Amino acid sequence: MKVLKLILGVLLSALVLAGIFAFAMIGKGGSAFEQTYSMEYDDAMVPSDSRSLQLGKFIAESHGCQGCHGKDFEGLIFADAPPFLAVGTNLTSGAGGIGSTYSDADWLRSIRHGVAPDGRGLMIMPSEVYYYLNDQEAGALVAYLKSLDPVDNELPSFELRPLGKLIMGVSDDMSTAPNHMRDATRIEAERGVTAEWGEYRSTVMCQVCHGGDMQGGQPPDPESMMAPDMRVVKSWGLDAFLEFFEDGTNPSGVVSSAQFMPWDKFSYLGEDELTAIYMYLETL
Ligand code: HEC
Ligand code: HEC
Repeated sequence: MKVLKLILGVLLSALVLAGIFAFAMIGKGGSAFEQTYSMEYDDAMVPSDSRSLQLGKFIAESHGCQGCHGKDFEGLIFADAPPFLAVGTNLTSGAGGIGSTYSDADWLRSIRHGVAPDGRGLMIMPSEVYYYLNDQEAGALVAYLKSLDPVDNELPSFELRPLGKLIMGVSDDMSTAPNHMRDATRIEAERGVTAEWGEYRSTVMCQVCHGGDMQGGQPPDPESMMAPDMRVVKSWGLDAFLEFFEDGTNPSGVVSSAQFMPWDKFSYLGEDELTAIYMYLETL
């Protein structure tokens, strides 16, 4: 009897401690969610010529924005899960969209730093990757987003539920602000068929799934399989690498799922950029 009581006592105190811990973490996560950040951003680097708009369209359609913001950037509830109701904002200037109220600085601050105009840290928005977009491409992207056809689509706000606050309290992973990479240097490379440009392109385009230095990682979509270590392509040769982006088939005949590895989208890249990426992968 005495032993049983003791065990029960230990269990109960463990439970109480766990409860206090969870409560504290929910509080911490909740205040992290509400914390605001101020960030000056007055770069006047948004162009309006038609070549930039084309470049911006390419960036927007090849960097995964539509997966969370909708095919026409009209906004999307992309997950209704225990930790959160995940809503990718309507980016157009239609009803419910931010397009009509955002300044150029607001766009750049949200995309590159994950900070909304009111200073709130954006949730889930992968700014830690988009931070690395160079000035020309970030500016072109904003120019294109500003030119989108308005779509009326009013959506609820992103909602962080208690479980989500708990997760945030324990680790800061879900919030992208303050962008911890704020001081990281961007890769200064000239567009060209070089390993340096390939490193730039894969940093802003591939590493979100394939991990830092392309050495394998879990893509943001929890249903996706792991994205493999890209050092594997060193044994493929350039031709086989380029062919992979035509039909998603690797030299062993295995086809990558286009749903999780969007090889069909990367045909936008063209042979020069894909070759540059290959040259970078060869250096790993
Ligand atoms: C993994 C999902 C995901 C991807 C990919 C993504 N976003 Fe977001 N984005 C979000 C979510 C979620 C929010 C709203 C977060 C919030 O309200 O806390 C958001 C917010 C934004 C905002 C700020 C809107 C506001 O509510 O003030 C902009 C601008 C934006 N995203 C642009 C982009 C662009 C451009 C791309 C592609 C280069 C992109 N996003 C890719 C999830 C994503
Ligand atoms: C949205 C996530 C995502 C992005 C972005 C992404 N990949 Fe992938 N990639 C994957 C996944 C997941 C697989 C594994 C697919 C499978 O096994 O069906 C994969 C597989 C591959 C393969 C095949 C490897 C093999 O052994 O067959 C190559 C090559 C590849 N990716 C290159 C790239 C390059 C280059 C980029 C950037 C231009 C890129 N990927 C961007 C998720 C991604």
